[in-house]
Amino acid sequence: MKENKIYVDGTVGLGGHSSAILEASSPSGILYGFEWNEDSFRIAKERLKRYGERVKLFNKNFIFIKEILQREGVLADGILLDLGISSFLLEGSKRGFSFQKEEPLDMRINLSIELTAKDILNNYDFMNLSKVFKKGEVPKAEKFAKFICEKRKKKPFETTQDLVKAIKEFYKSSKKDLLAVIFQSLRIEVNKELENLEKVLRDFPDILKLSGRIVIISFQSLEDRIVKNFFKSDPRIKVLTKKPITPSEEEIKRNPRARSAKMRVGERV
Ligand SMILES: C[S@@+](CC[C@H](N)C(=O)[O-])C[C@H]1O[C@@H](n2cnc3c(N)ncnc32)[C@H](O)[C@@H]1O
Repeated sequence: MKENKIYVDGTVGLGGHSSAILEASSPSGILYGFEWNEDSFRIAKERLKRYGERVKLFNKNFIFIKEILQREGVLADGILLDLGISSFLLEGSKRGFSFQKEEPLDMRINLSIELTAKDILNNYDFMNLSKVFKKGEVPKAEKFAKFICEKRKKKPFETTQDLVKAIKEFYKSSKKDLLAVIFQSLRIEVNKELENLEKVLRDFPDILKLSGRIVIISFQSLEDRIVKNFFKSDPRIKVLTKKPITPSEEEIKRNPRARSAKMRVGERV
């Protein structure tokens, strides 16, 4: 990492990667950081305060990266996206991201989003609910959507455990992977995660310097597929990772949440 350079962290979280970038580009590298979740943003802002003018943080969706860089009249040397949600949101947000907790079925990363997971389960018609589950690659998507439509007539869905109970009843299983994929399908719909990713990727070649790099870490196949296809389809991007980089056994031992991570790197040509 070089000095005097401009970096973008599109998913600051609590600022782990951002501070590593700021350290590595010290003393003059500038970081533009984006974090959509209000609480994560506040914590990161406090943590990164010590870098002073070198860090510019925005409590915004990363789809605004292009607009903001263009407004500032800068191009980036490197852009990082570490997709998905953080342990902080899973464990501490009380917004119903985790099937292991009993919380309202909310799942909004940012509270300005109008739709919640509860709205989807209680108000989407059968066709649209099926689409959500199919898009999220939920097994038996249509039949499960039909089951939910019947179930909510008796009692609307309110909490994460209402959904967990319905999953157990329908699938006769409470496997973690199954619960995770269903929760994830709702989270993707609430936050428009795949649409946001597609949009921001399209913008990247316009805001990178020549030889600037894009690094994307994804944790699930739907996102990784979008990244892979984008890298292949835009001639302004040279793929530097023929196969995605995955964590070593040792890293997985240290950090089990990293086990499904895939990192792809592209270079602006
Ligand atoms: C896996 S965490 C990133 C962790 C971070 N790299 C760190 O070192 O702490 C992903 C973060 O991206 C945020 N996020 C998700 N979608 C976003 C979006 N469209 N725009 C900006 N931030 C987003 C989430 O709120 C979450 O904090």
